[in-house]
Order: sequence, then C-alpha cells, then structure tokens
Amino acid sequence: TTKIQVAIDGPASAGKSTIAKIIATQLGYIYVDTGAMYRTITLAAIRANKITVGQTSADEQVISELLTNVEIGFAPSENGQLVFLNDTDVTEDIRQADVNSLVSLVAAIPAVRTDLVERQRQLAATSSVVMDGRDIGTMVLPNAQVKIFLVASVAERAQRRFAENQAKGLDTELTLEEIEASIARRDYLDSHREVSPLKQADDAVLVDTTGLSIEQVVTEITNLISKKI
Ligand code: C5P
Repeated sequence: TTKIQVAIDGPASAGKSTIAKIIATQLGYIYVDTGAMYRTITLAAIRANKITVGQTSADEQVISELLTNVEIGFAPSENGQLVFLNDTDVTEDIRQADVNSLVSLVAAIPAVRTDLVERQRQLAATSSVVMDGRDIGTMVLPNAQVKIFLVASVAERAQRRFAENQAKGLDTELTLEEIEASIARRDYLDSHREVSPLKQADDAVLVDTTGLSIEQVVTEITNLISKKI
C-alpha cells in the first residue's frame, strides 16, 4: 500500500503543529514534529555547554559532535505528544526561551540538517505521515502528495502565542511586543540561512490562516487532502 505524506511548512507560530496533530489523528497517520527535533538538539547543546544564550553564531564542529549521542524519541500523550532526549522527557524544556533564542542558529548548521533530515525520512518510511517544519515540502519529502504552506500575519501569530502563554501560565512575563520580535527574528534567520531556508515549495498550496479558526483551517486542509488522495 502507498504511504501518504502530508507536508506542512510555514513560519514560526503559524499553528502548524496544532493543525498537523488534528489532521494526523483524523487520518490515522503518524505526526512528526520536526521543529521538536531541532529543539532537542539545541537543548542537548545547551546542557553540554556547547552553546549559550547571547551567542550570535554556533560552532558547527562542536555541535555536530553531539549528534551521535542524541536520541530523539516521541510518545503519544493525552494532549499531544511527549518528546524525549535519550529517555529524559524534555517536552516542556524544549519550549523555553533559551531554546527559542538559539534553535535557529543550531538549525542553520549543515551537519545538523543532514542528520535530522535522514531521521525524518526514516520516520516517514514506516507509515503514512503528517510532518511539519520549514523544509518538509522542499527537502525532506519532495514527493509528498500534499504540501501546505501555512502562514498568518506576524501580528496575529504573536497574539495567538501571547494568549496561549497566558492561558497555560507559561512565560507570562513576556509582552506581546517581545513575542512578536522573537517570532520575527526566528523567521528572518530561518528564511535567510544558506541550507534549506524556509520557503514555499513550488507545488505547495498557500493557506493564510489570518482571521480563521482552527476548525476552519482544518476543514480547508482536509478538503485539499481529499482532492489529492
Ligand atoms: O516548528 P518550531 O517553531 O518548533 O521549530 C523550531 C525551529 O527549528 C525553527 O525556528 C527552525 O529554526 C528550526 N526548524 C528547521 N527546519 C524544520 C523545522 C524546524 O530549521 N524542518
């Protein structure tokens, strides 16, 4: 039987993982959060003192040495998915401000990308998949049957993240302006790096979620998928 691949790419906080999880559950496919993989490598580098907040570049050699010792695991949970770094649950740690500020530097390292892209392709080889990230449609799964490029205005993305933080009691000291600046900085770094920059694939469908509810976005994407598979 053919394995179906749904690739969802787009800028930070566009709702990719929220939408991808719902769609994967509906279709009975596995969900692969590739951002969580870059975040986990970044966390491992922080814990091993290989990179510190405030650095403006990452040492390719030093970070690459970590790759062979970092196993990344996913496990289903009630509200989504747990992420493991060598058997330690890092689900919450990878969403903290230190990782947010350093992940784009780590993700720009060619050796890191080669290694993680290989792991991502192996995951997709086992099952039909919904995979979200920045380079899934352009690099990881270029033959995906469905490619979505999910965007929303930076103001709306910051507003959603701010509301989510307040609701969950996470980073409640961060102002809306600080969140918007951090999202805009990550987008800039992700779209201007040399290897696999954030970019809409030629054959991806652009979905602008500004002003749409989660349910509306899910319906739109479900309709796109049913036309293609
Ligand atoms: O998706 P999320 O915002 O969690 O991704 C965190 C970071 O990981 C991104 O800002 C980007 O630097 C990197 N990333 C990437 N390629 C992917 C997924 C994420 O470079 N496929």
